[in-house]
Amino acid sequence: MNKSVFGLIGLGVMGRSISLNVADKGVSISVYNRSEEGEAHLIKEFLDENTSFKNISGFKAISAFIESLERPRKILLMIKAVSAVDYVIKNLVPFLSEDDIIIDGGNSHYLDTKRRCDFLKNKKISFVGCGISGGVEGARYGPSIMPGGLKSSYTVLAPILESIAAKDALNNPCCTFIGPEGAGHFIKMVHNGIEYVEMQLLAELYALMSSSMNNQEIAKVFSAWNSTDLSSYLLEITAEILQKKEGDHYLIDIIQDKAGNKGTGSWSSIAAFNLGTPNTLMTSATFARFLSSLKEKREVLSKAGVKQVTSVSKLDIDILKKSYRFARIVNHHQGFDLMKEASDHYKWKLNLSEIARIWTNGCIIRSHFMEDLIAVYKRYDDSLKQETIINTLNSNEGAISQMITLSLENRIALDTFWSAYNYWISITTSRLPANLIQAQRDYFGAHGYQRTDSTSKEFFNTNWQ
Ligand code: 6PG
Repeated sequence: MNKSVFGLIGLGVMGRSISLNVADKGVSISVYNRSEEGEAHLIKEFLDENTSFKNISGFKAISAFIESLERPRKILLMIKAVSAVDYVIKNLVPFLSEDDIIIDGGNSHYLDTKRRCDFLKNKKISFVGCGISGGVEGARYGPSIMPGGLKSSYTVLAPILESIAAKDALNNPCCTFIGPEGAGHFIKMVHNGIEYVEMQLLAELYALMSSSMNNQEIAKVFSAWNSTDLSSYLLEITAEILQKKEGDHYLIDIIQDKAGNKGTGSWSSIAAFNLGTPNTLMTSATFARFLSSLKEKREVLSKAGVKQVTSVSKLDIDILKKSYRFARIVNHHQGFDLMKEASDHYKWKLNLSEIARIWTNGCIIRSHFMEDLIAVYKRYDDSLKQETIINTLNSNEGAISQMITLSLENRIALDTFWSAYNYWISITTSRLPANLIQAQRDYFGAHGYQRTDSTSKEFFNTNWQ
């Protein structure tokens, strides 16, 4: 029997889509899925649905699956529950040989990925933590792919991963070697953090607009913006979502206002806390989801005599557009800053321009602005060093302050827009009130403070009482 070039474990919807994408590119692929937990039918079902592909082989037994792969084996794990990855690896390892490569294509935590790299290194098996973005459609027709691990493993995998990836504007694959250990999963986590913010900004705009505009009108505005510098996949699908009808009803009007999450927004916020970088928008967007899920409490308190918004007057669409432009710039700035900080801390040598490039297509946060960021990060490691970005923030600042005033007058929570504006105020203020924090810390805990009248970095203490 001819051996397959590539292997895939996990025939969930993402696994099935990637398998077909690989097979489409003429690469022979073996697929395996466990038979427990009511999943025994999955292999047969998948093969029956795709009889036109002659280069897909399905296996129910792990040993036969492993035997069917050429060496070094390249096995992509598409495990729905990231908590099961260790279990799958444990069961896989006894069948593997030196130099085989396991690729984890799920949203695993980057520290788990590092631990798995170390564990498998002892067994001379390479582990590639690989962020994959683009949802089901992306997986099938071209995702953005963010592999981390050993560069030598990437070299082996590149022909396959690059062939299945989306293509950028210059027809280059949206796939590049990110860095060692958990770097690929870290980058995917930050991608999701940026995604949470982009989604929340649109939700906040919708909150403001829907108090005086109908779904069609809002969709029309979003569609119009989507043919400007603001265009993005998320903006495009939001316009579509707002127009979707079920019978006479707009579907959006009957969807519960409780946002779910699978954890990557919290992980990126926690990473920002651990690295000491102010990713205020990601935390705002994540907390906004948590707050939304407190539905029963909100219902009760909404009847506690508080003013409820009826209709927002004086809604100026141009103000909203400028505010959206402003907040998106701050969002991307904070996200890339987080990656830069991690790169310095873990010595990953991340190429921020390349990361922007592979995010211009295939992934959920692909956008016109991401195209601009390729050039920005080619020149600078910080987008706020670019004059045109500063100019845009300056010229849109008046708008976001008006939008926030409007939201206050009408009692509409715009957590993430507020965070963006507050961040901008603080980062452009040379003297913040942190002198008082330092004094308080020294007063009760003798933590020490630095002085403006001392040129050294020395810390001083005062006997405050
Ligand atoms: C992607 C998506 C994908 C998924 C996230 C978000 O890049 O394809 O980010 O990974 O949508 O897991 O999930 P939650 O919103 O449920 O946290």
